[in-house]
Amino acid sequence: MNAQFDYAVVDQIVEAHDCKQSGIIAILQEIQEHYHYLPRDIFPRLAEKLDMSEAEIYSVATFYENFSLEPKGKYVIKICDGTACHVRRSVPILERIRAELGLSASKHTTDDLMFTVETVSCLGACGLAPVLTVNDIVHPAMTPDKASALLKELKEEIANA
Ligand code: FES
Repeated sequence: MNAQFDYAVVDQIVEAHDCKQSGIIAILQEIQEHYHYLPRDIFPRLAEKLDMSEAEIYSVATFYENFSLEPKGKYVIKICDGTACHVRRSVPILERIRAELGLSASKHTTDDLMFTVETVSCLGACGLAPVLTVNDIVHPAMTPDKASALLKELKEEIANA
């Protein structure tokens, strides 16, 4: 165990699920909601509390696409590049956001852990294309300029936090 890691959040979540192995997916979801990803330090603790092996928990965490083992930013921006959004020019929006945040196809998260930018294949809101979400809130009919204005707002929120 890592003496630097604060296990209080993990312990609280596991105990809310009565330390039941059957709650593993919900437990991982709640931990991810808190940290925005699954820190590696949680695995030994979960193994001990749930009486499972670390490998079993790790295999659940890697099986589901929604779990991330890499740190994510405070704001997770998902830009849809499904067919409806693609034909309505989602790529220039993605390029503008990446350029303004200094990100790329291989670097998804800013060093200050404020922004993560990902692409997804459909956000289920094709009628509003092109669409992006910020922490699961849908922003419809985007353009590069609207995306830029949205980033500015988010940066102001960070500065005023
Ligand atoms: S293709 Fe973008 S929301 Fe469906």
